[in-house]
Amino acid sequence: MSFADSPLCAFEPGRKIIVAIDGPAGAGKSTIARHLARHFGLLNLETGAMYRAFALKALRLDLPLDESSGLERLAAETTIRLESSKPDPATPESGEQENRVFLDDEDVTGLIRNHTVTDAASRVSVFPAIRAWMVGLQQQLAAEGGVVMEGRDIGTVVFPHAEVKIFLDAAPEVRGLRRYDQAAQLGPAPPQQPEEVIRDLRARDERDRNRADSPLRPAPDAVLLDSTHMTLDQAVEAAEAIVAAKLNLTAIQNN
Ligand code: DC
Repeated sequence: MSFADSPLCAFEPGRKIIVAIDGPAGAGKSTIARHLARHFGLLNLETGAMYRAFALKALRLDLPLDESSGLERLAAETTIRLESSKPDPATPESGEQENRVFLDDEDVTGLIRNHTVTDAASRVSVFPAIRAWMVGLQQQLAAEGGVVMEGRDIGTVVFPHAEVKIFLDAAPEVRGLRRYDQAAQLGPAPPQQPEEVIRDLRARDERDRNRADSPLRPAPDAVLLDSTHMTLDQAVEAAEAIVAAKLNLTAIQNN
């Protein structure tokens, strides 16, 4: 089968497909993106980790998080790299893909998931100059396609021509409880009570959805997937069906 006949061939000649997954925190984006990447043999790129790495640097330097100029100067002297292991095309079902994020060549993957960095990432991401810088990095990263890219603005700004766009959502209470359960599974005692997790998540939603530049919202051509009443396994299955249907369509349109 030639590349042009492959279901992974994109609408745009010379690149493979891009699957954009957007949605608020706790909607299941990471789990679903990881599964889709493995299932369809794509690279999984989690853009939130890039904002988190930059926020970590700003926190370490004690920079005010509400002043664009200082953050812009910092961005000019910062390198952020996201790496994802490629799945084996012969056995795409095998092996977890993990994103590792490098801040000025330091692997900070294990340092960016705490509450302080999570909140700071949402704050630094409101500034247009920071967003423009990140969007450029993300477009370079996935220029050849063959990726599932997950974030808040992938289908609207980073790759408005992505072949597949899924907007994942769920009620804030459900998302908050999922986040709480994830934290509980990681350590002995989660640092926050469920109500606190839900409160923080609502505050972050509010900021992400209402910022002036690239607010979190579905692209007009995104497929909406609400996982409020689904298990994550059911949501994964639904997302797989959406991608498969789109890929068949792409193959037909390319013939
Ligand atoms: O997906 P996440 O929770 O790791 O993202 C952390 C923050 O980064 C989120 O609150 C908003 C911001 N973000 C963004 O503005 N655009 C993206 N494409 C990804 C994340």
